[in-house]
Amino acid sequence: MCVPLSLSDLSERRSAPVAQLGAPGPDRPTLLRCIKAAIRVPDHGKLVPFRLIEIPSAARDALGEALARRHKELEPDVAPKVLDKDRTRFSFAPTVVAVVARVVESPKVPRLEQELTAGCVAFQLLQAVAAEGFAGNWLTGWAAYDPEVARWFGLEPNELIIGFVHIGTARVDVPERERPDVTSLLSEFNPDSIYFTRD
Ligand SMILES: Cc1cc2nc3c(=O)[nH]c(=O)nc-3n(C[C@H](O)[C@H](O)[C@H](O)COP(=O)(O)O)c2cc1C
Repeated sequence: MCVPLSLSDLSERRSAPVAQLGAPGPDRPTLLRCIKAAIRVPDHGKLVPFRLIEIPSAARDALGEALARRHKELEPDVAPKVLDKDRTRFSFAPTVVAVVARVVESPKVPRLEQELTAGCVAFQLLQAVAAEGFAGNWLTGWAAYDPEVARWFGLEPNELIIGFVHIGTARVDVPERERPDVTSLLSEFNPDSIYFTRD
């Protein structure tokens, strides 16, 4: 049984730069347990508007090369170093999982809510792997939104990539970054502000 993340763990959570994510990653049973936890998300209408696609290590070179080729096609003047980034994008972390939103027609549950549910899966996956002692990073980049890439991943027209969750072990201590001040973000609703424009 893994130890749940405490409030102080949550208060210190941070992402590791993808290039600093190395082995080990979670083994298969650990990854499956993490995904099992990650899919326990709030889900209006119980629509299960998400699925996950693992990108196996053996597929990473082919994907990287294809991304570079696609990028050049989209942007012929793209700098070679940007294409190199495309080539290595998926080559650092031992485990990479694409979280996909699959939006269903619903009279009750708007698209945004379904996408948020899928977003919760991505975040909960980060939290789950953290509970198991791994580091991670949720990245998108242009590839997440490109229709050609979506085709390579076998996405249906109602699906979109919410993010690629890169998982491994951080090779560096990730420094803290500046965080917003909680008191500046929390305000209180004032009922005096209620008025009807037709009155
Ligand atoms: C939907 C989504 C997409 C993201 N895509 C990228 C990305 O493509 N590149 C990037 O550098 N950070 C991206 N980030 C931000 C990182 O996941 C991470 O939050 C950021 O580096 C800050 O680190 P922190 O999680 O420790 O606050 C994305 C975050 C979200 C929620």
